[in-house]
Amino acid sequence: MTKSNQLKSHPLNNPFAKAPIVRLQGQPVLLFTPQHGSLLQALEAKKVRIFSECRSGFCGACKTKVLSGRVSYLTEPLADLNADECLPCCCIPSEDLELDLSPEGAAVVTYSCNTRAQSTSTRKTANLKAVPQQEVIED
Ligand code: FES
Repeated sequence: MTKSNQLKSHPLNNPFAKAPIVRLQGQPVLLFTPQHGSLLQALEAKKVRIFSECRSGFCGACKTKVLSGRVSYLTEPLADLNADECLPCCCIPSEDLELDLSPEGAAVVTYSCNTRAQSTSTRKTANLKAVPQQEVIED
């Protein structure tokens, strides 16, 4: 199948297809849509730490291991790749995708209110520790 045929038959071109879920080490981070542009742009929008330089498939700086799933390339990658690697700067997910990137610092998708409440609570505790002690003067 040629590259242009591959993109024409891509699930994102089917309005009834499910948007691919991108997971980082098991954590769901994003639901990929055409508005994201490349996989790299989508990951950066979610504050995922990923190194990049050329952003055009040439240097290989963004090379990432794919744990499961497949990608389609927007432009032909010029950097050498193993079968289990992708270049997020010039590809998009073809199906649900799991990457070997750390979800640390990323805005991960949470499934329940309890999880969210717990992380908010943790954040408040962390903020309280950062605030310097102030003397309270009462009348
Ligand atoms: S940033 Fe250079 S190949 Fe992706």
